[in-house]
Amino acid sequence: MSRTKIFCDIADSKTIKEFNKKSIVDGFTTNPSLMRKAGAKSYEKYSKLLLKICRKKPISLEVFADNFSEMEKQALKINSWGKNIYVKIPVINSKGKFTGKLIKKLNKKKIKLNITAVYTVAQVKKINRCLDNKTKSIISIFSGRMADVGKDPVPIIRKAVQLTRSKNNVEILWASTREPYNYTQSKQLGCQIITMPPKIIEKVSKFGKSFNELTKDTVKAFLTDSKKSKFKI
Ligand code: G3P
Repeated sequence: MSRTKIFCDIADSKTIKEFNKKSIVDGFTTNPSLMRKAGAKSYEKYSKLLLKICRKKPISLEVFADNFSEMEKQALKINSWGKNIYVKIPVINSKGKFTGKLIKKLNKKKIKLNITAVYTVAQVKKINRCLDNKTKSIISIFSGRMADVGKDPVPIIRKAVQLTRSKNNVEILWASTREPYNYTQSKQLGCQIITMPPKIIEKVSKFGKSFNELTKDTVKAFLTDSKKSKFKI
């Protein structure tokens, strides 16, 4: 089984600069909300700024149109900005229409795609049918967002990994990571990629503390706070 690659889920240029240098990070994922949060005014200019910083590691840049012909135009344009780009296409548009035809068309043109906002096994099956067995592709399953509403991502990811196993070019990405332990889960499930915000990457890079150390640290921290507050009984 190949190792689970860690991507950084961020659009902030300074953070990308910092994490681009770190070997723990194999690539980057962005989305329109992260671009907005990063303060991007012109999508194209900002993306090109990111591409100047991150020249080799894969970076996903998402289309933001809601109709298929506009999405296609944006996808072609985004793809032309660099060789390390995965064009992110949502699995449906806001009206609920499956983007399958477009996925197939772009995949045929050998454009690397990251199919995003995926939540179900049925969606994975449909997407997989639109992808050939040569062009590098990613399917991003939003584990955290489903866990946020009480749904278990584990069986869905497990099935997705199984369904795409015969295609070496298709990778399952654990998206919307909520806690460091998600990295362990994604590894156990054979996920090829997990994308995480910087804070979680920092924690994962410090994995390995023993139970004894954890106990001591916990007790020490309580003691320190009790002293700081001058607690008395
Ligand atoms: O970039 C896609 C995904 O990782 C977003 O995560 O935290 O907004 O649910 P989040």
